[in-house]
Amino acid sequence: TNNSGGGQPVSMENARQIAEIAGEKGILFVLDACRIAENAYFIKQREAGFEDKTYREIAQEMFRLADGAIMSAKKDALVNMGGFLALKDLDLALQCRTSLIITEGYSTYGGLSGRDMEAIAIGLREVFDPHYLEYRIRSTTYVGDKLHEMGVPIIRPVGGHAVYIDAKSFYPHIPPEQFPGQALACKLYEVAGIRACEIGSVMFGHYEEDGTFVPAAMELVRLAIPRRVYTQSHMDYVTEAFRELLDGREKVKGFRITYEPPFLRHFTAHFEHV
Ligand SMILES: Cc1ncc(COP(=O)(O)O)c(C=O)c1O
Repeated sequence: TNNSGGGQPVSMENARQIAEIAGEKGILFVLDACRIAENAYFIKQREAGFEDKTYREIAQEMFRLADGAIMSAKKDALVNMGGFLALKDLDLALQCRTSLIITEGYSTYGGLSGRDMEAIAIGLREVFDPHYLEYRIRSTTYVGDKLHEMGVPIIRPVGGHAVYIDAKSFYPHIPPEQFPGQALACKLYEVAGIRACEIGSVMFGHYEEDGTFVPAAMELVRLAIPRRVYTQSHMDYVTEAFRELLDGREKVKGFRITYEPPFLRHFTAHFEHV
């Protein structure tokens, strides 16, 4: 499921069309497979022709369309650390292996400990368990549905790994150049100690050559839900926090950036209140 697009899934048909275009143009099609199992869940539920396939078969079909895949194993391999690059073209794989040796290490471990690799192997099996996937998607939907009932503007239908709040609607008085998403993420932490992430103009906004600010298309705040960590009462705590945030929201102020690096500023920028 898509991390910057509201946690929404990619259909098999979409992947098929991308594979076709990439094939015609001679472009390598590399899947970001970090949430491939959650994505398979939505394909089975929503896309015609996949009702009777297992989640694992759906993922395998998607892998067949691509020339390779990268995976941050922290997501659907259900582990704390690690990841991999897989390629069908052996020549290309050999080139990558060569640079791997001078960066992460030999290809049999690639910077990971044996224990971590074993955990990835187990996680990749467990993640396709229908009970796991149902629990996972249900937990996210639970938070999303509750917030929606309370009148918190969110992206619907709720995605796989996270609920995305529309900060532009939540704080309509804060203009994009004062980062409504950042204001909401900070307020949530201040009020309830909940860490969320802005996915809006801090992340995707930029400046024209003449210095004009160009905002992102959406001002979102991501409530990503760690798997196998929280209970229903933790989720209720999150929604209760939003009840507090709804009160007096018109008084909340935006932010300005006091320091930003030349690129990927959302990771290390500094802010102050407007
Ligand atoms: C879609 C997607 N790809 C890749 C990554 C990068 O993962 P890592 O932090 O393991 O490099 C992330 C992390 O959030 C992600 O959401």
